Amino acid sequence: MLKIGTILLKHHAVMAPLAGYTDSPFRRLVCGMGSGLVSTELISAEALVHNNQKTMMLMAHTTQEKPFAVQLLGNNTDALVRASQIAIGSGADIIDLNLGCPARNVVANGSGAALLRTPERIREIIREMRAAIPVPFTVKTRLGWDETSKNILQIVDIANEQGVDALAIHLRTRQQWFKKGIDLQSLADAVKLSKIPIIGNGDILTPDDARTMLEASGCAGVMIGRGAIGNPWIFQMIVDSQQKGEYRVPSLQDVRDVMIKHVRMMHEFYGEPKGVKLFRKHLVHYSRGGPVSPLTGARYSADFRAKAVTTEGLEPLVELINAYFDHLGK
Ligand SMILES: Cc1cc2nc3c(=O)[nH]c(=O)nc-3n(C[C@H](O)[C@H](O)[C@H](O)COP(=O)(O)O)c2cc1C
Repeated sequence: MLKIGTILLKHHAVMAPLAGYTDSPFRRLVCGMGSGLVSTELISAEALVHNNQKTMMLMAHTTQEKPFAVQLLGNNTDALVRASQIAIGSGADIIDLNLGCPARNVVANGSGAALLRTPERIREIIREMRAAIPVPFTVKTRLGWDETSKNILQIVDIANEQGVDALAIHLRTRQQWFKKGIDLQSLADAVKLSKIPIIGNGDILTPDDARTMLEASGCAGVMIGRGAIGNPWIFQMIVDSQQKGEYRVPSLQDVRDVMIKHVRMMHEFYGEPKGVKLFRKHLVHYSRGGPVSPLTGARYSADFRAKAVTTEGLEPLVELINAYFDHLGK
């Protein structure tokens, strides 16, 4: 069982924060489908402190999103501490610090993965945040800045010494961005050194990928990002694969039902026409089919996508989805 501070997660497979995807509807969906926790996308601590309304919206959540983490980004200790307090006041169960974002504008600002170049600064920030945060406090990071300066073991040390409750590690350096290949040995080394739970992250698309990571490293949990887009079943599949040695692949009816449920949730949350428009990026993933989807190789799926991404309005889109699945089911 994965425990983060005082919070016992129901499952050890958890949804990664994904900017532009992990909004309230998607967090509710994956929570209901087995993710052990959910998180906002990265939120600028400075923007939160300045009461930026768009930023506040990123924290809008319901009681169906549990446990609910707010991920903060920044390099100003005061702002990070004040933003943590605002997030806790808004209902965050967990505060997560982003030390992994590789984006140029973020790094130029000295935030995200840029901090990996100054571990002493990380120690100061974590110390101050820990002292001010009464709820569980986690950190999400990468292996280091680049291949020649991989300092994940130093980050593990700092997190342990400063009372962080769990550490999620994306098994690449900042310079690797999302290039192929994750470093499982570094994860195994981090797990060996750490007294706090380590959550491994990177390239998990199937329950077998999760099993490989868990068995190769002994990590306490796995975090799934891109592999959950269009495949929110992955959490339950991973848990079943671990606990029962087998898992159920969703049926065409399951995919149809979840797509329709998801677009309705987005429509309700964002209103017309924004909800349907924002759903399009999920839709293309649902209809493409991942390695364990009944849609893999489905005929007409390209045609369907082309039509679906130009369809306006909730009910016409639901009708199109139903027609597509009726056709596939024949
Ligand atoms: C579109 C996109 C948005 C992301 N946004 C965030 C974010 O807001 N915060 C964060 O810590 N990581 C973010 N990440 C990184 C993911 O959380 C994760 O570490 C990375 O995608 C590797 O995991 P995966 O291979 O399972 O996707 C993002 C990744 C992608 C592809």
